[in-house]
Amino acid sequence: MGVRKAVIPVAGMGTRLLPLTKSQPKEMLPVVDKPAIQYVVEEAIDAGIQSVLMVTGRGKRAIEDYFDHSIELEHELESHGKLDDLHAVQRISNMIQVYYVRQKLPRGLGDAVLQARAFIDGDPFAVLLADDIIDGPTPCLVQMQQVARRYPGMVVAVMEVPREQTSSYGIIEGTAVVPGVWEVTGLVEKPEPADAPSNLAIVGRYILTPGIFDAIEQTEPGKNGEVQLTDALQAMLPFKKVYACEFKGTRYDIGDQMGLLKANVALALKRPELAGDLRQFLSETLETIFD
Ligand code: G1P
Repeated sequence: MGVRKAVIPVAGMGTRLLPLTKSQPKEMLPVVDKPAIQYVVEEAIDAGIQSVLMVTGRGKRAIEDYFDHSIELEHELESHGKLDDLHAVQRISNMIQVYYVRQKLPRGLGDAVLQARAFIDGDPFAVLLADDIIDGPTPCLVQMQQVARRYPGMVVAVMEVPREQTSSYGIIEGTAVVPGVWEVTGLVEKPEPADAPSNLAIVGRYILTPGIFDAIEQTEPGKNGEVQLTDALQAMLPFKKVYACEFKGTRYDIGDQMGLLKANVALALKRPELAGDLRQFLSETLETIFD
């Protein structure tokens, strides 16, 4: 299944990060030296995605501006001979074709994905949630495409979570096919630990087929009164196989304060030009605090 289009829902309000997100989109918060959304777009590009649709909402203009040309800035940099900076900002606006559509009401992830129907136009497609930065040896979406090539159907990325956290995720029930791949037999959105069919949680990566749009349209609002993508996938199970891919890598939930901090520290420690100083700063700080 060659997936060339991706949908990135970015309409969410980011309430878990207030007041940080009062006047700026959470997707634009810095992770080391890039806004979080850029990691997700780069993962899509690495997986062969050629065009992206961002499903936006109010207060998200900064994302559009970021992926657009900034003529004044480029002119300024060029006239001052700052060519490295010029190429860096041009690279961002040239990296991929980005389209935008607005989700007019916050009706849930399923409804956000439904806004992509005209853009997708009958092709299989990927959904990447911008809250989830996944750092691994191979981009998560590439690992999922490998599963999709071997096992035709839809694919969701999963990871094990502690039992007590199941109510924060979509949880799957599945039959192991090979290590790291399950055929999904059920999906539940944010079940209480006692009701969770497993501790395998869906993280924000999906490979979907266009039949999902009819399923979403027929899906009633579920958990938290929102139209849930998880519920639409559950409804499709009798007609379309869904596989779960336990990806290799680390997922950072940047919609959460601790996740955002962890992403910054862990990804900075992987950068040769920052790692030495940061390591020293962290150990000095720990010594001072615990002395
Ligand atoms: C969404 C999905 C959920 C998934 C999660 C992963 O929930 O509805 O199934 O497990 O993303 O990040 P949200 O975190 O947007 O409430």
